[in-house]
Amino acid sequence: MSARILDGKALATKIKARVAEDVKDYQAKTGGVPGLAVILVGDDPASSVYVASKEKAALAAGIHSLLIRLPADAKREQVLDSVTRLADDDAVHGILVQLPLPGHLDTEEVQLAVPAHKDVDGFHPVSAGKLLLGQEGGFVACTPKGVLALLDEDGIDLKGKEVVIVGRSNIVGKPAALLMLSRHATVTVCHSRTHDLATVCSRADVLIASVGYPGLIRGNFIKPGAVVIDVGINRITDPEQAADLLSGQPKRLARFAKNGKSLVGDVHFGEARERASAITPVPGGVGPLTIAMLLENTLTGARRSAGLGGD
Ligand code: GUN
Repeated sequence: MSARILDGKALATKIKARVAEDVKDYQAKTGGVPGLAVILVGDDPASSVYVASKEKAALAAGIHSLLIRLPADAKREQVLDSVTRLADDDAVHGILVQLPLPGHLDTEEVQLAVPAHKDVDGFHPVSAGKLLLGQEGGFVACTPKGVLALLDEDGIDLKGKEVVIVGRSNIVGKPAALLMLSRHATVTVCHSRTHDLATVCSRADVLIASVGYPGLIRGNFIKPGAVVIDVGINRITDPEQAADLLSGQPKRLARFAKNGKSLVGDVHFGEARERASAITPVPGGVGPLTIAMLLENTLTGARRSAGLGGD
């Protein structure tokens, strides 16, 4: 069997077009545009790339985008001041603090300074609590929200299904578990201490990998016919690792030989594709949806603040 590809890029394009239409409607009703502010501390190259894509996507959707760049050695007060200023700015409806923050800063403290009604990342305890309790009015973290959108788009019904999530982060694993539970799936969350990961994963009708470990999930982890969602985005440069993880993908192997680097997921794509019924590629799977959901959350924040209703 060769799995159907779940095209996150195509879905993201569709969602961004819908957001752009809804932004026009917001503008017609309020005379303003939704505003998204991103705080980037330091010059981590991966973070800079993410932030630039977020800005570009926001502008394309008609969302006003504001980037606050702070030096890597920015003091705690400086970062908190920036957040507070944005919190008080009525033109800003969403605030995102790009992670990871430099080690001397307390991530939790900075995240808590973002008021819940502007927390488009869904990281605030109020948003996390609302998701836990099944209450409306919070924001759902963008990546797990994107995963659910992709499953919905493909018509995958989660009711009664075994969903196994590998990774228990606050950003992906935990909120994904709650979202799947809200759709009546039976959910297992695995992590670094899980015994016999392969056996647990092989129970999954839907397997979601989000650990940041290239190719951890091999073909034998996958139940024939399962749906595989790969959230990992890992950059590899080791030729031996590339020969292993890109086996079965001759075009990508050739590109690795030329460029000396490649992006791979947490799933061994070539092996998994032979057993799964549907699978997300890396890149072009879940990644593009994270940004689409960020735009959607920003519009939701703006609509709520204008009394136009949320979701
Ligand atoms: N760094 C990597 N992913 C994310 C994300 O979804 N939100 C924020 N704020 N930082 C990130």
